[in-house]
Amino acid sequence: MNRTLNEIHLPGRGTQRILKSIVLQSPLAGISDQIFRKLVRKWAPEALLFTEMVNANSLELGYGREKIKELSKEKGPVGVQLFDFRIKPMIEAAKRAEEAGAYLIDINMGCPVKKITKKGGGSGLLRDLDLAAEIISEISNAVKIPVTVKTRLGWCNKSYDPIGLALHLQDAGAQLLTFHGRTRQEGFSGKSNWVAIAEIKKRLSIPIIANGDISTLEDARKCLKITGADGVMIGRGSLGTPWFVGQIDSFLKSDKTFNEPTTKMRLEIALEHLESLLQSKGEHGLLIARKHLNWTCKDFEGSKEFRKDLLKANSSKKAISLIKEKIKTLD
Ligand SMILES: Cc1cc2nc3c(=O)[nH]c(=O)nc-3n(C[C@H](O)[C@H](O)[C@H](O)COP(=O)(O)O)c2cc1C
Repeated sequence: MNRTLNEIHLPGRGTQRILKSIVLQSPLAGISDQIFRKLVRKWAPEALLFTEMVNANSLELGYGREKIKELSKEKGPVGVQLFDFRIKPMIEAAKRAEEAGAYLIDINMGCPVKKITKKGGGSGLLRDLDLAAEIISEISNAVKIPVTVKTRLGWCNKSYDPIGLALHLQDAGAQLLTFHGRTRQEGFSGKSNWVAIAEIKKRLSIPIIANGDISTLEDARKCLKITGADGVMIGRGSLGTPWFVGQIDSFLKSDKTFNEPTTKMRLEIALEHLESLLQSKGEHGLLIARKHLNWTCKDFEGSKEFRKDLLKANSSKKAISLIKEKIKTLD
């Protein structure tokens, strides 16, 4: 569990993993599907990417299996993130994910959504740390790949003890912890508390990943400096900008960075995203693509008007032709 510069070592239980990038793409429900990951991967060949969170029980009942389909065919490391509060489905889902080619299993202990926490999943596990430990330990015994946890600083300000929490998860067998520097109670308000993550890092022997509010290259460098963490994880910063993780990676590795994508490149990425979604989901892909198009088609002259027209397009044919026409004007 050593860290050499720009590497993170995870021993697994027979399946050792060495991450060659210290920049991780966060699991993003409704976003980090196979198509999004393929785009991120273009710029970040070595980064650890994640599936969207997968409900372990649903997986065992037969739903959501497309989320872990053909993982072994994807280039580069992809972790499967599971959530639930029931031990048996968590174990079975972890085994299934390992078989499908998961690089590691991550347990979601950070999701603040009420529908999930009220049953005890996501950050709800922070209210029952014995159960959380049992889940980590049982999954670790059931699979050979590393088991990691993504969590927050605590459930609420009253029960706040992030170091105690981190030690508890480490003792249970977690091989890496990612901390979003907010409590469940804080949701997405205020700022991610990087100083609290630094305190955790000082006390733990397993790798710690810092997460929250990294939206520029300098943020990434500053976050690593403040937290002393082994790596950083990027969430919202890559919405509409699938190159961002790779851009940070090369910035940290060489102090250099590639140029920001030109408008033409942005539009080509938007088009690729749309066409991939259409290929995979049929015409419904247009509805899924709209949020991505809205995030990607920005930061150029006339982008506001362009987005307005694009989001009004009521057929994929129309949307594709609008993007292609715009690209032509940039040749
Ligand atoms: C749309 C959206 C979906 C998310 N889905 C997940 C998820 O599936 N699993 C998870 O652990 N966190 C999820 N998160 C939380 C992020 O992974 C991340 O921890 C959080 O956004 C803070 O990091 P950031 O400031 O870089 O966005 C989600 C966040 C957003 C905005």
